[in-house]
Amino acid sequence: MSFNIAIDGPAGAGKSTIAKRAAKELSFIYVDTGAMYRAITLGLMRAGTRIEDAQELARALEEIEVTIDYQDGVQQVYLNGENVSGQIRTEEVSARTSAAAAKPQVRAKLTDLQRELARRENVLMDGRDIGTAILPDAQLKIYLTASVQTRAERRYKELCERGEDCSLEEIAKEIEERDYRDMHREIAPLKQAEDAVLVDSSGMTVEEVTARIVNLARERMQM
Ligand code: DC
Repeated sequence: MSFNIAIDGPAGAGKSTIAKRAAKELSFIYVDTGAMYRAITLGLMRAGTRIEDAQELARALEEIEVTIDYQDGVQQVYLNGENVSGQIRTEEVSARTSAAAAKPQVRAKLTDLQRELARRENVLMDGRDIGTAILPDAQLKIYLTASVQTRAERRYKELCERGEDCSLEEIAKEIEERDYRDMHREIAPLKQAEDAVLVDSSGMTVEEVTARIVNLARERMQM
């Protein structure tokens, strides 16, 4: 039987950085579910779909196929066969994905794919509803969070390093808005599973958080 680790938490808590490292140390496959939602959203954006119109959304989703594979251990995401891993990381896609991910039809499209991956392999899967909805039987669940201020500062640093214009205040506001939407949507809202271990990464280094998760996983694997 495969061993599954679910990591959920809000945007900017460091999930993907930590998850990637922890998966590597444990020789698990890292599954970034946010990338799958982003790829669907990019498909909807390209088609000019008005996601508020349920019928139009259903029709557009029929034309969208999202798949993943791994190149040198790094997850790649494909939209109808095209590798869109680079194109899904813009601020516009981030904002629109949060809205699209609130639609039940969009979520339904990814549920089976995610469960199937976890059934076959030892995965470390990160997202918002992995421990609560997708893999309720995961052997280890982590809820990884950090204060809004910490998350905004990290994002600010990232953008500055890339030479992009940014304001710390605006980033903090966007993070708060995204948290609110992700936590208050009707379907699969972001929340800590009852049996998840809470890890607050504010004031912790990437190495410290990774070590904590790897140690928890090793403990559970011996049980
Ligand atoms: O983790 P991320 O920033 O790449 O996620 C992008 C958006 O997708 C985010 O607004 C929440 C949504 N998402 C989701 O609803 N469920 C998941 N399992 C993963 C992401």
